Amino acid sequence: MSQVYLNGAFMAPQDARISPMDRGFLFADGIYEVIPAYNGVLFRFDEHLDRLERSLREVQIINPHSRAQWQALCEDLIARNNGGNISVYLQISRGMAEKRDHAFPDPPVVPTVFMMTSPIAVPAADSPDTARGYGAITRDDIRWARCDIKSVSLLPNSLLRQQAVAAGAAEAILLRDGFVTEGSASNVFIVQSGTIITPPRSHAILGGITRDLVVELCHQHGLPLEERELTETELRQADEIWITSSTKEVVPITTLNGHPVGQGQPGPVWKALAHHYVRHKRRLCGLD
Ligand code: PDD
Repeated sequence: MSQVYLNGAFMAPQDARISPMDRGFLFADGIYEVIPAYNGVLFRFDEHLDRLERSLREVQIINPHSRAQWQALCEDLIARNNGGNISVYLQISRGMAEKRDHAFPDPPVVPTVFMMTSPIAVPAADSPDTARGYGAITRDDIRWARCDIKSVSLLPNSLLRQQAVAAGAAEAILLRDGFVTEGSASNVFIVQSGTIITPPRSHAILGGITRDLVVELCHQHGLPLEERELTETELRQADEIWITSSTKEVVPITTLNGHPVGQGQPGPVWKALAHHYVRHKRRLCGLD
């Protein structure tokens, strides 16, 4: 039986109760993180916590826990859910107010903390030589102007991902004014004549933890990489397209709007990067 965490207690998911007056429910007034754990070991925990603290600061929610407390809660929840390869979902809303008012409650109320785990499916990067590719579609980026905040306000992302699913694709890659921003729940990389290109960190995208790790691995292993604006034309003409996220790692996209990307197979640069990624993960999480 799985266990979740809500406001100080561990319990079965069906026993977790939140008031409809919670601002997370009424206003999507909250932020979240998704932290992978392999072999029960949290992966890039400090980077995820840096981003969590930043998101909280940006929306002015008081951080209810120290970093050591967050780590203990995550590790406890992982152990209660039998470890292995799982992701921890962690959400903090501003809390429950007595009346519905757009402005923050004054004095502030106690934030609501909810955590749960989900199994991580075996990622494509685990078998670089035999992995299959996935499809993506392009759509206009209809989201707000602070996509750098990991807000639970995900209706546009959800609508966009649903369009991908309806088209039989794995992801919607988003375009704003002719430039690629990111995926509905991922960051985007392309390969152009051997050079890896990804849009720079800005308010238009989430600063992905996996994105940053891929950038680090490219630098470490001498793979040429540019962080710069990426046009829609470059995306359409790319030799390879990848998407990255904490639960899916680095995924090769082999069709875009139904057309093959490059040779229509996971490309050689993706394979090289996937090997580096898996080695790094195995070393950090004691999987060797
Ligand atoms: N989403 N961009 C968006 C809009 C995302 O929602 C995500 C991740 C990413 C990748 O970030 P990271 O590498 O830190 O996971 C980029 C998570 C996994 C989710 O919402 O479930």
